[in-house]
Amino acid sequence: MSKLSHRVPEPVVEREYAPPGTLETWEQDGSNGRHLPLLEARAVAKTFEGAHGTVEALWNVSIVAAAGEFVAIIGPSGCGKSTLLEILAGLGAPTSGTVLIDGVETVGRVGAVGHMPQKDLLLPWRSVLDNTILGLEVAGTPRKRARQEAMGWFPRFGLEGFEEHYPATLSGGMRQRASLLRTFLSGRNILVLDEPFGALDALTRAQMQEWLLGIQDEFHKTIVLVTHDVDEALYLSDRVYLMTARPGSISGILDVPLDRPRRYEQIVTSPEFMKLKRSVLEGLKQRSARGRT
Ligand SMILES: Nc1ncnc2c1ncn2[C@@H]1O[C@H](COP(=O)(O)OP(=O)(O)OP(=O)(O)O)[C@@H](O)[C@H]1O
Ligand SMILES: [Mg+2]
Repeated sequence: MSKLSHRVPEPVVEREYAPPGTLETWEQDGSNGRHLPLLEARAVAKTFEGAHGTVEALWNVSIVAAAGEFVAIIGPSGCGKSTLLEILAGLGAPTSGTVLIDGVETVGRVGAVGHMPQKDLLLPWRSVLDNTILGLEVAGTPRKRARQEAMGWFPRFGLEGFEEHYPATLSGGMRQRASLLRTFLSGRNILVLDEPFGALDALTRAQMQEWLLGIQDEFHKTIVLVTHDVDEALYLSDRVYLMTARPGSISGILDVPLDRPRRYEQIVTSPEFMKLKRSVLEGLKQRSARGRT
């Protein structure tokens, strides 16, 4: 049975940065040495220096995702989740700590990971099709070929017939799928998704979650997903990382040993799911009771 409590690190009093790659960080990252990590953040810290002072966004964050794993990160608003995904995607450098893909350091290297940002960033003046091929174009694929390749995926992403529409004419769910398709077409095996269903109603959200699991089953991507939603984290993932309030650090790690394939209605109403949910909610409560901000 999964337990949260035995894997929650002690609250840290001394705020010293752990050197990356220590045994301690390895054990705290949730891997337990079961699988070799494909994507790994080791003791990542990030401090922003701005005109209005210093913001400590992340502190000593270690996570791993093995090939084909689905990992979720859950934490309160402002705890550094988007900052962490940007660092994983090479879009920002950590202040200390490092990121590895297949054991090789990739800090600041863009292109190894497909990143779906929190805002869908669809360009309003480009058709849906031309939005989805942006990554391919940047990677040097000729436009005609990129369009042909992308068109083939429109039915699977529920966007068939909307190729020449403009983003403003799409529903929220369709925009999210278009944005996901763009990330998917990056051709990367590792995808980091920043609240991909954040703006959707509960029903559409559940449909999209089930659909994403279908995509995952089919294509065996390695996925790191950020969410505020406990049900979403548990329903989708193999492992959930809980984050503290800012500066975000990992306060708990929970394995999700639910069988796949997962049918939404069956899974989220099962006693096993409820037990896991209670563990996460208790973990999140403990975290806020510590009041580390
Ligand atoms: N470029 C930046 N410059 C300065 N501060 C930043 C920058 N980016 C993020 N921050 C700060 O870092 C902290 C973490 O921000 P981040 O967007 O990563 O949080 P988040 O967990 O994704 O929040 P949310 O759940 O609301 O999306 C915030 O206090 C934010 O103001
Ligand atoms: Mg965010």
